[in-house]
Amino acid sequence: MTDEVRIELQPLGEHLKVPRGTPLREILFDYGVEFPCGGRGQCRGCRIRVAEGSLEVTPPQRQVLRPQEIEEGWRLSCQCRAEGDMRLEMAQWKADILVDDSLFEFSPGKGLGIAIDLGTTTVVVQLLDLETGRVLGVRTALNAQARHGADVMSRVEFAVSGGGRKTLTDVIRHQIGTLIRQVLAHSLVPIDDKAPDNGAAAWRESDLTQIVIVGNTVIHHLFCGIDPEPLSHYPFEPMEIGLYKFQARELGWDLESNPVVRFLPCLGGFVGADTLAGILAIRMHESRDLVGLVDLGTNGEIVFGNSERMICASTAAGPAFEGARIWMGMRAATGAVYQVQASNGGLHCSVLGNTEPRGICGSGLVDAIAVGLDLGRVAPGGKLNCEGEHFVIADPVAISQTDVRQLQLAKAAIAAGIKLVLERIGGTHDQVKALYLAGAFGNYISRESARRIGLIEFPIDKVRPAGNTALLGAKMALFQPDIDGELFPRILERMEHMSLSADPHFMDTYVEEMVFPRG
Ligand code: FES
Repeated sequence: MTDEVRIELQPLGEHLKVPRGTPLREILFDYGVEFPCGGRGQCRGCRIRVAEGSLEVTPPQRQVLRPQEIEEGWRLSCQCRAEGDMRLEMAQWKADILVDDSLFEFSPGKGLGIAIDLGTTTVVVQLLDLETGRVLGVRTALNAQARHGADVMSRVEFAVSGGGRKTLTDVIRHQIGTLIRQVLAHSLVPIDDKAPDNGAAAWRESDLTQIVIVGNTVIHHLFCGIDPEPLSHYPFEPMEIGLYKFQARELGWDLESNPVVRFLPCLGGFVGADTLAGILAIRMHESRDLVGLVDLGTNGEIVFGNSERMICASTAAGPAFEGARIWMGMRAATGAVYQVQASNGGLHCSVLGNTEPRGICGSGLVDAIAVGLDLGRVAPGGKLNCEGEHFVIADPVAISQTDVRQLQLAKAAIAAGIKLVLERIGGTHDQVKALYLAGAFGNYISRESARRIGLIEFPIDKVRPAGNTALLGAKMALFQPDIDGELFPRILERMEHMSLSADPHFMDTYVEEMVFPRG
């Protein structure tokens, strides 16, 4: 017997050789498989199917997988090791990561800068010429911490009760350092070489002067080496929310110019530096009109305000918008139903990659429930009204009663948060000039369906997908050298963080918002 085994991954068509006995979790993460419960065998999110070869069925798998699924070859990859050659089919696989190519006004600076959107799931690193604002290179990856939990609370749990805080800090610093080295190596033209044909300037690595990172509060803590324990219990107030400055070498990054690295400040609670960057991106802090910014994630972040006053809050929406904890849910990747429309009394579905449907992502789920409400297959209270137990979307993809409940919880959390923040700032839906939706989900969700399910009550023409506002704001921060001394203090003194969990009206509003609007 050799010490290596061969693994074929489908539908990626990748062929790997790995040491016998390697945990599949260590292998598959790099190919897009997520481990939502941190590999505890509780969530089913890491399912794979053994098409050839075999994988042991351990007792935790028997508790979570149905006998028929086991029969069909489904396994929880977090519970398995590669003990023999095999061909695996992965239920989730490579997804596009939202970057940013927006144009924005700036005052030219000097040298090179790097902007980093450090998300819970994904990481984007962009290298910029600070004289021209041109993006010279980009690197994306899945956040390497996700092996220890897909959402922020799983990571806090791993850091606090699992003693994994140092691991999570080391993992993410190492990954970001590697991505920086890669983007520099692939994007810079050696200064001694003849000028490139495309007229691009030649740069040395030593021209890198600064790096700006943004991320949510938990990621901020874990990157900066701050104890996230206070975020694990009521009142969920972070230990530190300020701006953190490092020299690259302090982080173990061997960069010739030893540039300054700034992790931008958070705003309070679970409202992080990514939201602050979003405020910069949509220029809320300069707006005379009342505007809003909402990030529709597992942790929904909400800000309303203008140049005089801003109020922010976060609300635990759960992972339904990301397709997690949904019976046939998956990320927005190949094979995901991402759009559902009513067609001649039936349904018309669009599938990412134009392939056979294998699951449903967040935007598809919102569409499906909106259409289900119109067709009477979902009642306003959320009860499924279908033949059989499931609402079949595109065979074999179907929605269960539990899925509808998960979406109700998510939409109620966001809708209640928006209502209460607006009330606190003294604004009405009519007075809001624009509502910007941040992030990948906000970019792809149908505004009509979001309104139909009562997630967003604003007129459609006021709702604007805003793309990766975290990355755009991080880039804008690179061009404002005085941002720490002037702009941030000005924004922070006008910002109020509202704790929804402490608000006496939150629970009633949340329960009211659980109901879908009648047509
Ligand atoms: S069951 Fe494997 S990560 Fe949750």
